[in-house]
Amino acid sequence: MSRKKIIAGNWKMNKTLAEAKDLLTTIEHQLITPISATVVLIPPFPFLATLQASVLNQAICLGAQDCSAHAQGAYTGEVSAAALKSVGCSYVLVGHSERRLYHSETEGVLIEKTKQALQAGLHVILCVGESLEQRRSNQHEQTVSQQLLSVLSTLSSNERHQLTIAYEPVWAIGTGETATPAQAQAMHAFIRQLISEQYGLALSQRISILYGGSCNAQNAAELLACADIDGGLIGGASLKANDFVKIIYSLPA
Ligand code: PGA
Repeated sequence: MSRKKIIAGNWKMNKTLAEAKDLLTTIEHQLITPISATVVLIPPFPFLATLQASVLNQAICLGAQDCSAHAQGAYTGEVSAAALKSVGCSYVLVGHSERRLYHSETEGVLIEKTKQALQAGLHVILCVGESLEQRRSNQHEQTVSQQLLSVLSTLSSNERHQLTIAYEPVWAIGTGETATPAQAQAMHAFIRQLISEQYGLALSQRISILYGGSCNAQNAAELLACADIDGGLIGGASLKANDFVKIIYSLPA
């Protein structure tokens, strides 16, 4: 079964509106031949509506970096999944390591965020990944398994089908240190096997698993060629149109 290929660009807390529009326009100009992947641009919240209105290429859609664990109400500074959906957003990241680490997002919060996003009709990219200490002490599989199952076990089968997984080893995010293709493939295969054991072969073969962590224009082809890597979640390299487009074209046809 062929799985959906996704290249997502997580712009994090970068760019002004003018710069964001410019980046979108340049990416679109460089995407000249048809692409078989879905390209998800994930800018800061304030740019979502404007960028959504400017997108011309049908392969491109918009995603948000986070959403609230609540549906609506007196939660100053929060952005609801329904609000994101209403401005044309179709994806949302949940559980990015920077949210887990700097905003103390616990499993309970991530479960609520995932549920809110799915209820609003968004696709969730659930991010998991071990720290350097966990990898060094050989706890990477156990860590990722716990992060995944804590959320997946609370969802219905239909809800699980709306998920995309992003495996992002924390030690590779923004550090320039990338997992080797062998390390990445081994973890992706582990995740797929785990999903197969827990929720059946069909879901495991259908769910897209993206790699993230210092994936760039130079190393993307090798990573994306791995059997269980269905795309990438790109941080730093997604801020440069040339590099990002090169990564998109690095996907095997
Ligand atoms: P990076 O970030 O590509 O800059 O390592 C990836 C991410 O945080 O999603």
